[in-house]
Amino acid sequence: MPATKVVVNIPGESPYDVRIGADVLDGLGAYCKRLAGVASAPRMVVVTDSNVAPLYLERAKDSLRTAGFRVSDIVVPAGEESKSLSVIGEVWEALGALGLTRDCCVVALGGGVVGDLAGFAASTYMRGIAVVQVPTTLLAMVDSSVGGKTGVNLSAGKNLVGTFKQPAYVCASTAVLSTLPAREWACGCAEIAKSSVIDSDEFFFWLVEHAPELAAREESVVAQAIARSVVFKANVVAEDKTESRGVRECLNYGHTLGHAVEKLSGYGVFSHGAAVAEGMRFAARLGEALVGTPHELTQAQDELLDTLGLPALAWSAAPEDMLDAMKRDKKARAGVVRFVLPRDVGAWELVNVPDDVLLEHLRAWKAGK
Ligand code: NAD
Ligand code: GLY
Repeated sequence: MPATKVVVNIPGESPYDVRIGADVLDGLGAYCKRLAGVASAPRMVVVTDSNVAPLYLERAKDSLRTAGFRVSDIVVPAGEESKSLSVIGEVWEALGALGLTRDCCVVALGGGVVGDLAGFAASTYMRGIAVVQVPTTLLAMVDSSVGGKTGVNLSAGKNLVGTFKQPAYVCASTAVLSTLPAREWACGCAEIAKSSVIDSDEFFFWLVEHAPELAAREESVVAQAIARSVVFKANVVAEDKTESRGVRECLNYGHTLGHAVEKLSGYGVFSHGAAVAEGMRFAARLGEALVGTPHELTQAQDELLDTLGLPALAWSAAPEDMLDAMKRDKKARAGVVRFVLPRDVGAWELVNVPDDVLLEHLRAWKAGK
């Protein structure tokens, strides 16, 4: 199957390509040789993690070397813990020790953790050098590699330090997804489902029809799901690059309750995707009460999430604790919890939900478990 190309065109930024296809990793070096600002880089530094390195690092480096680049690598431990001040410090030091100059380029080979970390390193080292994103998880392909958010976590919370840094190129090889564990696959599916509900009837009903094939990782459906999600995200980011115009918040659909579930259940107990899916189920029900979300949407979304391997959670927490966690989330404003609610497929609203209303719905959510 030939590769698909999506061009991300964000006002004020150089346009960049996202190439999606089985073989695009082998063409990484050749493609970089066609990119202004990367082609003549004296050195490419591939940043990856300890799970991805044994699987794909040599292939990525071979492709870059064959195209004529000098290549080095930095391998960080796999896992969210690497999005830390200590690991970013080690990456900065390693870039310095390699003698990287401003015309060099960082290649982020991995999931969202590596993408955010390496993107942050690239955007801050020498006040900014080029970065190429080579996402290796489904989540990174459909979400984190596109749109330019980078960063690390602090003890006070996730992603509290970061930048906006658009990549020069995104190379999404569907072949590397063959080694992705089922739990990570479902995480990507949750973000695809989220995107489809917010985007349009066209995307949502296409996904409903093809969800069994996506769950079974059928190649052409996977590639289409990635391409559709990337087009959706690129359009959102083009309208609101820095999340300052009330548009990019739509990407938070399902995440308000989802973040509270992750926090109160203990990070890692449920995957991010499982928590987001639970958040989407809750938001649709809240939407029925507050913005007239059709019940058919709630039902169709439930079935879609079930098919994608994202069942409703049997877990719950005290409504007061959930409310408290949501009020502390960095997306809350002045202690008011804000939800992205679907008025319908393709039509969403950002709604400030008063505490008493939210508590009533959290009680119903808990009682339904
Ligand atoms: P991740 O990067 O931790 O990857 C998940 C796991 O899969 C890791 O253990 C990783 O080593 C492994 N892995 C990666 N590729 C693999 C492959 N092809 N085969 C086998 N194993 C593989 O997690 P993620 O879900 O990709 O990303 C989550 C991170 O992304 C979070 O830190 C989140 O904050 C961030 N994020 C950022 C944005 C953004 O816009 N920048 C958007 C969403 C999420
Ligand atoms: N994943 C949220 C964003 O990119 O804004």
